[in-house]
Amino acid sequence: NLKTIVRGVGHYLPERVVTNDELAKRVDTSDEWIVQRTGIKQRHVAAEGEYTSDLATKAAERAIAAAGLTPNDIDLIVMGTTTPDRTFPATATLVQNNLGIRHGAAFDVQAVCSGFVFAVTTADSHLKNGMGTRALVIGAETCSRILDWDDRTTCVLFGDGAGAMVLEAVPEDQEDDRGILSSCIRSDGAHWNKLYIDGGPSLTGTVGHLRMEGKEVFRHAVGMISDVVEGAFEKANKNVEDLDWFVPHQANRRIIEGAGKKLNIPEEKVIITVDKHANTSAASVPMALSVAVEDGRIKKGDLVMIEAMGGGFTWAASLIRW
Ligand code: ACO
Repeated sequence: NLKTIVRGVGHYLPERVVTNDELAKRVDTSDEWIVQRTGIKQRHVAAEGEYTSDLATKAAERAIAAAGLTPNDIDLIVMGTTTPDRTFPATATLVQNNLGIRHGAAFDVQAVCSGFVFAVTTADSHLKNGMGTRALVIGAETCSRILDWDDRTTCVLFGDGAGAMVLEAVPEDQEDDRGILSSCIRSDGAHWNKLYIDGGPSLTGTVGHLRMEGKEVFRHAVGMISDVVEGAFEKANKNVEDLDWFVPHQANRRIIEGAGKKLNIPEEKVIITVDKHANTSAASVPMALSVAVEDGRIKKGDLVMIEAMGGGFTWAASLIRW
């Protein structure tokens, strides 16, 4: 019997930082409004000519180095993204090519903000079933390319970036109790029109822009997040007292605080990056993980809960013994 352990993480942020004050020059908003409603102070934005695959490749190289491996050790790439370079091929295959990997398989999963957690559960299942030995799981986005920069209700909320994680299949009786202990994934397409893109290859032949009923998303978020987090605890026979770190999707500080309160997770166990990164969709969870590993908070043996909720709606959580 096999289990899946985390070998390393890494992230990459584009150089350019856009502050709330800079946005206030373009749309009718203010630093005060954005900070108070969302906790966001700034976001990173990709340069012209810098694509999702470029951010993803840099994050992947860092994760592979952190794992003490080389690209050729990877035989599965699963990537969560809503902002692929092209409609096809899958951006994961572009990353595979950038890394010089010619074996194994690479594909994208589409679950919007939940994309990374869905990708983790997909890779975990593949590895446990022997369909690969070492997987690179990536969340990468250039959200700036799908925003309507004249719509103040959405353009202030998002940013660009990429995070990656290397997973490895090992025999169940090795590496103590480390590994991905449990996962819960959910979706309910009845909510599709609360958060969506108003274009696409089949619908309009264009890329389109992000549209959102912010209040409706907010109204559902905390309940859906709690649902999968509690599900993942239950499946693993663990509870919130066992938890060392809660690494939520970084959409909005108020959603994170609401979920933390509902789940009785103390504030000091919650990793927050939304102030600096804004909402980077599928990239937010792996970037938050990478930040917290880099600064020494998340350590080997810690119990870590990751979760996300986004368009579809989709929502998901995984409990990991680091
Ligand atoms: N600057 C200034 N004023 C603004 C801005 C802005 N950027 N955006 C909206 N407003 C105005 C509105 O027009 C409205 O004005 P009105 O009262 O004159 O009509 C007023 O501010 C209040 O707007 P609300 O929509 O009621 O503000 P709310 O408190 O709901 O906050 C927000 C809006 C931040 C979008 C909130 O609903 C939210 O966070 N929702 C969750 C959405 C989310 O995080 N989505 C991310 C994608 S999904 C995911 O990742 C889970």
